[in-house]
Amino acid sequence: MPSGRNRHPLLDTALHIVKGALVVALRIPTARSTKSVDFKKGLPLRGAITVGPVTSEPNEEDKRRIQELVNDKVAANVPIRVFAVARQLAETTYGEAMYDDFGVPKSVTELRLVFIEKWNINANIFPVAQSTGACGRIDITKWKHNSNKNSLEVSFDLTPTEAYTDEQNVPLATEEALANDQVPAREMVLPPADVAGTHGTDEATETNGNPQNSQQHQQQHDPEGNPTGGGQRVTPWEVEADEETGIDYDKLIIQFGCSKITEDHISRIERLTKQRAHRFLRRGLFFSHRDLDMLLNAYEQGEPFYLYTGRGPSSEALHLGHLVPFWFTKWLQDAFNVPLVIQLTDDEKFLFKENLTVEECKRLAYENAKDILAIGFDKDKTFIFSDLDYIQTMYPLVLQIQKKVTYNQSRGIFGFTESDNIGKSAFPAVQAAPAFPACFPAMFGNRKDIMCLIPQAIDQDPYFRMTRDVAPRLGFNKPALIHSRFVPALQGNQTKMAGSQVASSIFVTDTPKEIKTKINKYAFSGGRATVEEHRELGADLSVDVSYQYLTYLMEDDQELKRIGDDYAAGRLLTGEVKQKLVDVLQPIIKAHQDARAKITDEDVRSFMDPTRFEGKKLI
Ligand code: TRP
Repeated sequence: MPSGRNRHPLLDTALHIVKGALVVALRIPTARSTKSVDFKKGLPLRGAITVGPVTSEPNEEDKRRIQELVNDKVAANVPIRVFAVARQLAETTYGEAMYDDFGVPKSVTELRLVFIEKWNINANIFPVAQSTGACGRIDITKWKHNSNKNSLEVSFDLTPTEAYTDEQNVPLATEEALANDQVPAREMVLPPADVAGTHGTDEATETNGNPQNSQQHQQQHDPEGNPTGGGQRVTPWEVEADEETGIDYDKLIIQFGCSKITEDHISRIERLTKQRAHRFLRRGLFFSHRDLDMLLNAYEQGEPFYLYTGRGPSSEALHLGHLVPFWFTKWLQDAFNVPLVIQLTDDEKFLFKENLTVEECKRLAYENAKDILAIGFDKDKTFIFSDLDYIQTMYPLVLQIQKKVTYNQSRGIFGFTESDNIGKSAFPAVQAAPAFPACFPAMFGNRKDIMCLIPQAIDQDPYFRMTRDVAPRLGFNKPALIHSRFVPALQGNQTKMAGSQVASSIFVTDTPKEIKTKINKYAFSGGRATVEEHRELGADLSVDVSYQYLTYLMEDDQELKRIGDDYAAGRLLTGEVKQKLVDVLQPIIKAHQDARAKITDEDVRSFMDPTRFEGKKLI
């Protein structure tokens, strides 16, 4: 039983934060899973929570993830909310989710509930801070698994933010009044239904070689351990979202086990690069990462890194969605002044697409290379390669990676079935290899310590979960990742642009007239049915594709804000916003076409020649 003696509002706040992280990462129920809590008297502030059932000591990756979830929750500075409600009503709404293992005495008829939105709920009487940020830093210091009790004790140190070192100064959450007993919904207080349940696919150590087990991992559970159906599905080959709401990126972050990019990351990047962050970062197009902090720390200490990105050449012309990661990569290369490697996975496209020949895939790789080079990468620091070409150099490393990944892991991560060709399950090692410097002896010699940052669309994450899992076992650093959202198709948020559907995308080959026609005809509008209604209600910006494209493409913050405000207020009509987009987009595409026309076969050959780096010091 917890005792009130040594309680400190920040330690109680930390308990809620840590509990939520454990529930999400270890896939345990919220209900009755807190076995005990403990506090140390005095400074430094120190606490512990014991949870269960937990069948084994978490692996390093889980531990890292739990700490990261805790950090993110503190950084997000979200409110801790408190309300009182009749016990009966609480139980009908939340089941037992708010109870610890030791429960609340029968005699209590009204509960004081403390919750962090979509994270944790608990019935107790102890004061907590108003918001999570007050905790400053929570460092998990000890993990103790008890295999007899199937429980895990997690100890942490807490370093409050400067202003709150004195307990008296901590602003405490006050009880909210509920209007006619309207308690927050269950979905509001618990982690998203299928989030806790899908944990376990983060990094391949989790898919432990047992196919039944990986099936289980794909089964979704609510936070109390009950399976739930449905949800979104994002793999490198298909993106399936909820029909109405589109992709829930916050949920995806938790499902995949990656972390949100915060304002702190952005200002840190600005400090380190001494320039304003790219609008893709400022406006949240790149929104998620793995180990970005670690990479920035190392960079700050003067340690080198290189960038790696790629493209699967499955179509002749690229569309806007394809250009996004490359534009951003170009900015990263210039801002950090680092080498870059670009992989063209012609082999992948051959294996995964029905009707392409090997020759055709290779031809498309060269065609696409011209579009990519048109973006203007630094020739002295950039190497672009086709897998079919470069495989001989990569092969020793590919083999080492293949030997470290079992068939069942590959199946578990990528969802291959018995009837998929065997090339598919071997291919991920080829996409993993460029994340290690040994893939580029001409550039990096035999240095193993150079770090790698991989800008990518979030659907590529499974490849790099696998990569990160094998990295330490081959003596390499895990690559850091930075993920973008999908650029929506013209038809709306539910889908990403598809190269195969002409009407869903703006292609780099489109003429000014085609751009105008496509946007006018297809771009999904958040405007209202009639002008009168629109003037009165204004547009729904969150579904308006033209406005979203503008947020990604228009550099001028003030102009963008003005358009957004006017459109949302009904002062601007959809047609006018579409015209603004046309005006922004036509010159961008035109400039791209002009740049591409200047790229010669000789340029491509030269960018693809690794020998030009020999004897030059790149890093
Ligand atoms: N598989 C990716 C695609 O189909 C191409 C790719 C290879 C890639 N390596 C990458 C993308 C690294 C991002 C980062 O488009």
